[in-house]
Amino acid sequence: MEGLALETLAVRAGIDRSQFNEHSEALYLTSSFVFESAAQAAARFSGEEEGNVYARFTNPTVTAMQQRLAALEGAEACVATASGMAAIMSTVMALMQSGDHIVASRGLFGATQQLFGNILSKFGIETTFVPATDLEAYRAAVTPKTKLFFVESPSNPLTELVDIAAVAAIAHEAGAVLAVDNCFCSPALQQPLKLGADLVIHSATKYLDGQGRVLGGAVCGDKKLIDEVFKFLRTAGPCISPFNAWIILKGLETLRIRMAAQSASALELATWLEAQPQVARVHYPGLPSHPQHALALRQQSSGGAIVSFDVKGGREEAWKVVDATRVVSITANLGDTKTTLTHPASTTHGRISPEAREASGIHESLLRVAVGLESVADLKADLARGLALI
Ligand SMILES: Cc1ncc(COP(=O)(O)O)c(C=O)c1O
Repeated sequence: MEGLALETLAVRAGIDRSQFNEHSEALYLTSSFVFESAAQAAARFSGEEEGNVYARFTNPTVTAMQQRLAALEGAEACVATASGMAAIMSTVMALMQSGDHIVASRGLFGATQQLFGNILSKFGIETTFVPATDLEAYRAAVTPKTKLFFVESPSNPLTELVDIAAVAAIAHEAGAVLAVDNCFCSPALQQPLKLGADLVIHSATKYLDGQGRVLGGAVCGDKKLIDEVFKFLRTAGPCISPFNAWIILKGLETLRIRMAAQSASALELATWLEAQPQVARVHYPGLPSHPQHALALRQQSSGGAIVSFDVKGGREEAWKVVDATRVVSITANLGDTKTTLTHPASTTHGRISPEAREASGIHESLLRVAVGLESVADLKADLARGLALI
């Protein structure tokens, strides 16, 4: 598969046909695998002989998905997980121990902040959150115990960018590993490993599936690090179901064209939103007004499909826009072909204290649109209805 383009890998990587020579990838709905003899069972269990044993460890459908995603990210290896949060949790559990320290960008997804700030701290793993764009703050946060840097770029929901190459250099200077949550861009728009990151984390629930059907996650990187994550996963069990892996495997086939179409629509919608008198500010890396537009042009191949904007006013005005919609879905997911609209302060980021939320710029006036495949004219009309009420 070496040397092939991303669009070719998306439909061709990871294929391992069975004896039936099926064209579309097979779905192996089996939790265990049969051995030819007691000796073979023993050899498989001890690892002397390669092969499937039990689906908490491996399953051919899951392996196919892992190989395809690794190819798209330009990674040596990939391990799939039950969800994006399972991918993050498994990475931390595999690579860290009590007493270790994480440096994380501040604008992370709400559950990731909860995991780092409230749950890992119970087990002696502390996290310092730093402003996503402040390189000096990353450097200053390093302690002798820092093992992991964790960033999200663009961040959810404010689309702040992290300079991945610069943060990778700081992490490596500190002897730490950099993990990048690549959920918003997917490998179709950004390949963090090529920018110097060590691990890429995915919520496959989002663009990799692309149609809002299943939960899944993945960690990609070099074989040594992924083997560590796999060892945790096969023992602790937050593995993906073969059915979900198959859905995601097939979703990857259309990833590039979905991302291109959805990004183009997002840019058009963001440009229109910026011209609306009821809109105070639009957050979209593809707009020249985005504070890190130059970095976006360097690091990503487009602005992505997520647009956030602050309406003039607060929660009441933002909710007016939400409640007036008839086409878009009022739901917390993103990365779907159906456009979704979210009020982060009362949903995805609702469990964070109001002070911490305000400090990270997630105001009551903020709305997040994850642009799908509908006509942009219909999306504009749907949002215009609510904006007219402000
Ligand atoms: C950036 C980001 N990372 C991780 C996750 C968690 O993924 P999952 O819901 O698949 O556990 C999400 C979910 O919205 C997300 O937006």
